[in-house]
Amino acid sequence: MRPLCTSATASTVLLTAALASAQALTWDQAYERATSDLSLLSQEEKVGIVTGVRWQGGPCVGNTYAPESIPYPSLCLQDGPLSVRFANPVTVFPAGINAGATWDRELIRARGAAMSAQAKGLGVNVQLGPGLGALGKIPSAGRNWEGFSSDPYLAGIATGEAIHGMQGSGVQACAKHFILNEQEHNRETISSIADDRTMHELYLWPFYDAVKANVASVMCSYNKVNGSWACENEEILNGLLKGELGFRGYVVSDWNAQHSTVLSANTGLDMTMPGSDFNTPPGSIYWGDNLASAIASGSVPQARLDNMVTRILASWYLTGQDQDHPPVAFSSWNGGAASVNVTTAAHGDLARTIARDSIVLLKNRNQTLPLGTPASLAVIGSDAIVNPNGANACSDRGCNVGTLAQGWGSGTAEYPYLVAPLSAIQEKLAGTGTNIVTSTTDDAASGAQAAAAAETAIVFITSDSGEGYITVEGHVGDRNDLDPWHNGNALVQAVAQTNTPTIVVIHSVGAVILETILAQPNVVAIVWAGLPGQESGHALTDVLFGDVSPSGKLPYTIGKSEEDYGTAWTTALVDNFAEGLFIDYRHFDHAGIEPRYEFGFGLSYTTFQYTTLATAVNVVAGPTTGDTIVGGPEDLFAIIGTISAYIHNNGSATGAEVAQLYLGYPYSVPSTPPKQLRGFSKINLLPGESSQAIFELRRRDISYWDVVTQKWVVPTGTFQVYVGSSSRDIRLTGSFTV
Ligand code: BGC
Repeated sequence: MRPLCTSATASTVLLTAALASAQALTWDQAYERATSDLSLLSQEEKVGIVTGVRWQGGPCVGNTYAPESIPYPSLCLQDGPLSVRFANPVTVFPAGINAGATWDRELIRARGAAMSAQAKGLGVNVQLGPGLGALGKIPSAGRNWEGFSSDPYLAGIATGEAIHGMQGSGVQACAKHFILNEQEHNRETISSIADDRTMHELYLWPFYDAVKANVASVMCSYNKVNGSWACENEEILNGLLKGELGFRGYVVSDWNAQHSTVLSANTGLDMTMPGSDFNTPPGSIYWGDNLASAIASGSVPQARLDNMVTRILASWYLTGQDQDHPPVAFSSWNGGAASVNVTTAAHGDLARTIARDSIVLLKNRNQTLPLGTPASLAVIGSDAIVNPNGANACSDRGCNVGTLAQGWGSGTAEYPYLVAPLSAIQEKLAGTGTNIVTSTTDDAASGAQAAAAAETAIVFITSDSGEGYITVEGHVGDRNDLDPWHNGNALVQAVAQTNTPTIVVIHSVGAVILETILAQPNVVAIVWAGLPGQESGHALTDVLFGDVSPSGKLPYTIGKSEEDYGTAWTTALVDNFAEGLFIDYRHFDHAGIEPRYEFGFGLSYTTFQYTTLATAVNVVAGPTTGDTIVGGPEDLFAIIGTISAYIHNNGSATGAEVAQLYLGYPYSVPSTPPKQLRGFSKINLLPGESSQAIFELRRRDISYWDVVTQKWVVPTGTFQVYVGSSSRDIRLTGSFTV
């Protein structure tokens, strides 16, 4: 095998460039300025700052009224979590789920920084991401791909990194959607009911990271939580978010998720978007003049409006937007052509690096991959080429035609270009003499014909999902099942039955059931490439042809059947979250179900050996102490110990390993998942090289939520320590006792 270059080296230069500078001010400084502005504002101006100007009333998907008394703009709020929606040109980065699959803190931060550098250049004040709810308890749920992982720890680390990157670039991040917004069906009517411990240990967990990272805004979701709309819910807004988590930014409604004038104001909503109510009567609004009247009549205290405005102005100062923030340079409603070009070659390279390092190699019999230069290669499937009508032919990417590199809905952006797998393969093999045979439809007979004429075949299959306002091929946002679309199983079967060694590449929003495909003896390799964004083909060929070793790891579990997950979307109007803490691998472990590919799994072109587990934990059992600061109780994030291990590359290729730490809680904590991710470290190693993986434990990482005392508590007893290459490939075990 030819030597492989390191995945880290290629990105060092752009990482240095992309890493965000520190945030402009502290919260206290920002509040000081906001408070002094407050006295200059009229009541009408205050109301305007908290009220959207109505849908399509300004250039962005959300806009507020600009006051005249202070130099504060009409705020521009724009989607989304992977780029700037409706504007062009922009760089379309890999989706959140791919960022999560890299398990690479630096890359995730760099992605946030680059995305928001572009957003800032376009005049965006608030970029509506990252996505951290849906967390992904339901594998078929439509919007999981916008977020990072169905594990709260991985999602939380990624959320913190993304926000630091985004806000370091001078744009306000918006953590969304708060909270328990786990499916698209009935998202605007369903009531999600999670028990207190599940709420804290799973769904609220990554929001702690968001607040800890000083997130400027949080978007309350469409659904009800415990029977009350999320955007007028005392318990979650004033209670959890502003109370327990010490959130100092502002709560903005999801678009038309507000249902009242007074209740929403008094329970903690700070900004309404887009300012119009689509429902009854059309164009009516809850705030604006109605808020002013509610204050005049005493139903909403003046102090509440002042607090909303202070939070919003403080967030603007916090991110330095009073200093030369550019004007809005595009309109969402006329094709989005920007008057400035904010894209850079380095951002394109970064998109490629992230896409490449997120690729998860699931199967690789007899080292089929990396490919050399075969005499002939069949490239099969409609996912190998760009949609013949253009990469952006379907609005908000609401179709699955041509190669899949984003899901659909508000979390998408317009491709400046899209490198399809086939064109990248052609580019890679140009001049090598390899005969490339193609069948770029999903027709099984034609795929088989192409495969029969080649030494090796690559079959591309997809599975798509998105936001429920668009239905694609009968999928109302959420997927109807976890099978490949377009008869992908039949296509792979037909190709493999020609006896040509078959490599399957999956572009999907999440887990796909692979049993039919794995039953084909000629399927020799399987690659999950997720939703890679504009550099899709290049990232794929970097891995397929061995320029880098694959280093992505699954940020969710691939089961043998959909039923094995124990969760599915419902058409009922209440979801009781009956599975509690047991979602994804927590459920598979607890129920003793063998997954097909477990959480954290991913092969490399090299192999790694784990040695020398060391555990040093020094903590006193009991509840957190101290005041609530931004991010929760003062000592929640305190480092209380370190666990480490040596990782040795004992194979023959350079590669990166994601060493993972899981903890098993003491028996004194009832009904806890057998293993929970509590650390990871991605380490790039040359053949023969070793390095230490160090996992820092924070107090929260060994705490559980005690529903009686309403505190995070470190239990007494013995914790089991599992360090390994996946949630089931545990290489070292140990323990520590508190
Ligand atoms: C989505 C949000 C999005 C907003 C604005 C809503 O439908 O749920 O995630 O930010 O629209 O486009």
